[in-house]
Amino acid sequence: VTETIRVETPAAAYTVHVGRGLLDRMDELLDGLLPGARKAAVVYPPAVAGPAGRVAAALGRAGLAVHPLEIPDGEAAKRLDVLARLYERFAAIPMHRPDPVVVVGGGAATDAAGFAAATWLRGVPLVNVPTTVLGMVDAAVGGKTGIDLPQGKNLVGAFHQPVAVVEDLDTLSSLPGAELRSGLAEVVKAGLIAEPALGDRVAAGARASGLAAGGGGPVPVDWLGPHIAAAVRIKATVVAADEREASLREILNYGHTLGHALERLAGYEGLRHGEAVAIGMVFAARVAELAGVAAPGLASGHRELLTAVGLPTGGVAGDADTVLDAMATDKKARGAVRLVLLREPGSPVVLPAPDRALLVEALDAVRSPA
Ligand code: GLY
Repeated sequence: VTETIRVETPAAAYTVHVGRGLLDRMDELLDGLLPGARKAAVVYPPAVAGPAGRVAAALGRAGLAVHPLEIPDGEAAKRLDVLARLYERFAAIPMHRPDPVVVVGGGAATDAAGFAAATWLRGVPLVNVPTTVLGMVDAAVGGKTGIDLPQGKNLVGAFHQPVAVVEDLDTLSSLPGAELRSGLAEVVKAGLIAEPALGDRVAAGARASGLAAGGGGPVPVDWLGPHIAAAVRIKATVVAADEREASLREILNYGHTLGHALERLAGYEGLRHGEAVAIGMVFAARVAELAGVAAPGLASGHRELLTAVGLPTGGVAGDADTVLDAMATDKKARGAVRLVLLREPGSPVVLPAPDRALLVEALDAVRSPA
């Protein structure tokens, strides 16, 4: 069953399709959305050359001249030199205003190609075809695009909403278990900020499918669809209310202040984004308890939930000053640490300048590896 979720912002309105067998139906799904288009750039990393080929075939059936453009796998896609090469290729094709960029891949691919689409000729249509859980529930929805600089991640970017997002669950079947679990951290996060029962449903699915038990190999993914759709629906509601992150959208950052700091301290290696966010959520829950924002028990509830999904809830090494300094330099910190906290699951609130001693104490809750 394909679920469709509408995202409606002041700048754009589009549909996110979540289902199976969608890649071969792209011609039908995009029907009427690309007026005047004659060509399409299909941007993809080598890891998803197969799915990208099927997307290209479907676009060809829709009458478009398709230009496949390969970018590096993972975060290496988000470099200035990769962006420069994309512009050179767009110029050579040449891509005109109505011609879409169709990007197939994980969050890094959709961020990078999305930024190229946002800026080429001041903006051409973008179609996101995310192939990871993280991409499906977060990066590909909501219009944030960007690349990294040596000075930091996502420092250059633009808001550029896609004209459609096509999430084919079959593309997840080759993802390693650790990658799936990492993506599910963002689903659990969506549940914790807006729909507490979602986390419990994900945990039950992770247990039943064997995903939670660990192991790096592929696991059955047919149970993921409704959970991914639920997380997209939550993100769509938040983005509709605050497209440009003036206020409410910040709650999507739950667990990310410590999470980003841990990723940076790990040199973006050895710790996946979702793993870092899982630990960050336990930390935020402990801060909420210590600050009297939440009743005791929130952090242990988080731990139970995340462990059931097979995610880490601790293991933070390093002295408190190093970790807290890394948090304060987050680009969203605006010079001081800002933390999204929960009064209880489903009820987020922002704490603008938490007391340092309290943060140091809360770090104790994520020290022991669990
Ligand atoms: N990834 C957080 C947001 O889209 O706002």
